[in-house]
Amino acid sequence: MFARAAGVLAASAMLTFLTACAPNPVDAGAVDAIQDGREIAEAQCGHCHAPGPEGDSPRADAPPFRTILARYRADTLTEELISGIKLGHPDMPLFELNPQGADSLVAYLKSIQEPPVPAGATTPN
Ligand code: HEC
Repeated sequence: MFARAAGVLAASAMLTFLTACAPNPVDAGAVDAIQDGREIAEAQCGHCHAPGPEGDSPRADAPPFRTILARYRADTLTEELISGIKLGHPDMPLFELNPQGADSLVAYLKSIQEPPVPAGATTPN
């Protein structure tokens, strides 16, 4: 009984220790968002758009995601992803992402743009 409690205590002390040692919790959150966004892009958009930093789109008429913020403002895109994207092309299905998913997807898109989007910059339209 005592040994078990001590074990739990040791485990939680370890966890506190590990959390305190994480290099920068804010950055870790941003990395998670980018990772989530990449999964969304690959799962939901990847049959048509090239979702990654290189490669051609499976559908030639769908722009690769690494170029998308050059034509589309990040904040507009976030709003449209939440409200149901309607970008004026009939073939693209209607998406509705929750705000967190939309933020993650846009964080991911920012991370792969060519040329890179400087941190904190709003993209010109
Ligand atoms: C069924 C294929 C298909 C899927 C799936 C798809 N798209 Fe598209 N998307 C297209 C096509 C085709 C175009 C270009 C159409 C045009 O320019 O008229 C496009 C264009 C866009 C544009 C506009 C680019 C511009 O330059 O105006 C954005 C932004 C976009 N897609 C985002 C997404 C996101 C985000 C997802 C996933 C949540 C997604 N698309 C999934 C086919 C698709």
